[in-house]
Amino acid sequence: MTQPKRIVLSSDHAAIDLRQAIAKHVEGLGYEVADIGPTTTESTHYPLHGKAAAQRIANGEADLGIILCGTGQGIMMAANKVPGIRCGVCSDTFSAAMIRQHNDANILSIGARVVGEGLALAIVDAFLGAEFEGGRHATRVDMIEA
Ligand code: RB5
Repeated sequence: MTQPKRIVLSSDHAAIDLRQAIAKHVEGLGYEVADIGPTTTESTHYPLHGKAAAQRIANGEADLGIILCGTGQGIMMAANKVPGIRCGVCSDTFSAAMIRQHNDANILSIGARVVGEGLALAIVDAFLGAEFEGGRHATRVDMIEA
């Protein structure tokens, strides 16, 4: 399987610093990063930013996404409304790997008010380092899509 190379990032105002730290980290790993903002801490609406990142993936402009808000929950809910998107919120590395391996998640959501930067970067590494296992899991993912 070809390794995903193009990563899109977005967040709301609650996660600007962590998103930028993750963007730098992911770029350092050799991925092509599209950090689509926002860039200021002015209050904004997480559904807009979840949708924007999700559409990049649905359109084939990115392979995987990393999105953030205060809890990771609201932006995840918005992203999952876009057809073809499977996004999970993770606060631990085990779940971050498993949503790739078993659920073929194409977006990882993180809560910037939930985890610190060190753990967030480890969660990102676990997500990007895992691959979908296919087989019986593909049957279940097909059921989600149906
Ligand atoms: C913004 O205050 C906050 O509601 C948002 O970042 C997020 O946590 C929503 O799910």
